[in-house]
Amino acid sequence: EARTLVLVKPDAVRRGLVGEVLRRIEAKGYTLVAAELRTADPALLEEHYAEHAGKPFFEPLVTFMSSGPVLAAVVAGERVVEGFRSLAGATDPTSAAPGTIRGDLGRDWGRPVTENLVHGSDSDESAAREISLWFPGL
Ligand code: GTP
Ligand code: MG
Repeated sequence: EARTLVLVKPDAVRRGLVGEVLRRIEAKGYTLVAAELRTADPALLEEHYAEHAGKPFFEPLVTFMSSGPVLAAVVAGERVVEGFRSLAGATDPTSAAPGTIRGDLGRDWGRPVTENLVHGSDSDESAAREISLWFPGL
């Protein structure tokens, strides 16, 4: 069965949206395999976001993502990688479709980083890489 890495980002944790995000994942029919609340080291985040190294938003992104606890979770289900990205909605929360996590719960706050509440792996290969980073041994 497919698995994906979900991060409930620090903006969502600060706003008390962990339960709402997990509720949507479970209501869709996916299964929680592992979940842990923790403040990630910048080194882990630089590795997690390696594909974005060198982009102008990279440093603000790492700073934001290490600014407080995230809820890291492994979620399982048939075609869950694309299914969770569909639940999450488009990267920019202002234009993300209503009905999605970002579209219903997110907005632009005028900050240098796009604060968009959640992360989901973008392919099965990314999911395997990210799960081994966040949950070594799983
Ligand atoms: P994730 O699910 O978090 O990976 O989002 P994504 O796959 O929709 O976006 P992507 O992997 O392209 O970028 C990772 C994260 O960097 C995004 O979720 C945003 O928080 C941030 N980001 C991406 N593109 C931009 C950008 O053009 N400007 C800014 N300021 N932030 C960005
Ligand atoms: Mg991505």
